Amino acid sequence: MSKKVIVTGGTGFIGSHTVVELIAAGYTPVILDNLSNSEIEVLEGIKKITGVTVEFGQIDIKDQAALTTFFHEHKDAIGVIHFAALKAVGESVNKPLLYYKNNIGGLINIISCMKEVGINNHIFSSSCTVYGQPDQLPVTENSPLKPAESPYGNTKQIGEEILREDIASRTDEGKVIALRYFNPIGAHASAEIGELPLGVPENLIPYVTQTAIGLRDELKVFGDDYNTKDGTAVRDYIHVVDLAQAHVVALDRLVNHKNKEKFEVFNLGTGQGNSVLEVIHAFEKSTGVKLNYKVVDRRAGDVEATYADTSFAKNELGWSTKLSLEEMLASAWKWQKKLDSKKSV
Ligand code: NAD
Ligand code: WQD
Repeated sequence: MSKKVIVTGGTGFIGSHTVVELIAAGYTPVILDNLSNSEIEVLEGIKKITGVTVEFGQIDIKDQAALTTFFHEHKDAIGVIHFAALKAVGESVNKPLLYYKNNIGGLINIISCMKEVGINNHIFSSSCTVYGQPDQLPVTENSPLKPAESPYGNTKQIGEEILREDIASRTDEGKVIALRYFNPIGAHASAEIGELPLGVPENLIPYVTQTAIGLRDELKVFGDDYNTKDGTAVRDYIHVVDLAQAHVVALDRLVNHKNKEKFEVFNLGTGQGNSVLEVIHAFEKSTGVKLNYKVVDRRAGDVEATYADTSFAKNELGWSTKLSLEEMLASAWKWQKKLDSKKSV
C-alpha cells in the first residue's frame, strides 16, 4: 500500500512538525506550499531532524491548473493533510475577500483535485475559534457553533460545512476528519523547526519570546477584568509536537477504515485552561528570564475562556497530549534564541 501523503502548507508551523511525525511513522510526505507564510529553509530543518529530503512543490492552491498537475503527479498518495490557509485574524477583518479566496477557494480546489485523481482521505485543519465563547466548559465537539468573530474564523466554519455537505453527497470512498485545534505553541525539541511569525506577532507566545529576547519592549496583557481565576483570559495551549502526532493518528484511522462516520470532528487540546498570567509565570519559571509586561484594555473579539473536552479524541483516536506547558514554553524559547542567533550571523 502507498504511504505517500500530500501535505498542503507543509512548510508552515504545524505542517512542518506534522511532516516530521509522518516520516517517523513510516509515511512519505510530499509538501505543496506557495511559501506565502513560510520559508524554503524549513525543508533543511526537516532533513536535519529526519535525514529525509522531502519532495516539495511551490504551488498556490488557488491555481487550479498547477494544483491539478501536481495531484496527477502524486495520484498514488493515500491522503491529503490540508493545512494551507491564511490565519491572521486581524488581517482577515481588513481583507475578507483575500481570506475567502485563499481558504475557501483553495479548499474547493483541493477537494476537486482529490476527487479527480481518486484520493479519498482528507484531514482538515479547523479551529476552536468555531465555538466562539462556549456556553459550557470544557467544550465538546457537540457544542453549538457561534457566529464567527472574523472572516478568518468564518472560513473555518464554512470550510467544515463544505466538507460535510460534499461528503454527504458522495457515493465514493471519500472521508474527512476535521481537527479543531485549540492554541498550538512551542517548537520541535531540536529547534530545527518552529513558528515564523511575520512582522509584529498577533499571538501570545511569539510576543512573549520576542519581548524576552529584546525585540519588543513590553508584552501587553489584554485585560485583567475577565471572570477567570486571575482576571486574565484562559486558553488551552497545546504543544505543536503533540498536535502533529494527532494528525498521524487521524490519518491512520482513515487509511485503516476505522472511522465511524464519513465526516468526523475532533477537538485537539490538552483539556487544561491556563490564563495569560499563568503563561507568563510559567515562561519565567521554565526559562529563568523575567518578562516586562503591562496590563492594558481587552482586545476586541477575544473570548474570556475556552478549553477542550478531550474525551472524544482520547476514546476514539486513542490520542492524548504528553507535553507540559513548561515544555511548550521552553521549546518556544529555544527556537526564539536560534532565530536570533541566525539573524546576527
Ligand atoms: P502557517 O502560516 O505557519 O502555515 C500555513 C502554510 O500554508 C504556510 O506555509 C503558507 O505559506 C501556506 N499557504 C497559505 N496559503 C497558501 C496557498 N494559497 N497555497 C499554498 N500554500 C499556502 O500556519 P499554521 O499555524 O501552521 O496553521 C496551519 C493550519 O492550521 C491553517 O489552516 C490554520 O488556519 C490552522 N490553525 C492554526 C492555528 C494556530 O494557532 N496556529 C489554530 C487553529 C487552526
Ligand atoms: C491568547 C491569549 C489574548 C497577545 C488565535 C485565533 C484563533 C486560533 C488561535 C487559528 C488571549 C492574550 C495575546 C498579546 C495578550 N488560530 N494576548 N497579549 O486569540 O486565543 O486565538 O489563535 O485558528 O482563531 O484567534 O490566541 O495567542 O492571540 O491569544 O494578552 O500580545 O493571549 O488576549 O487571551 P487566541 P492568541
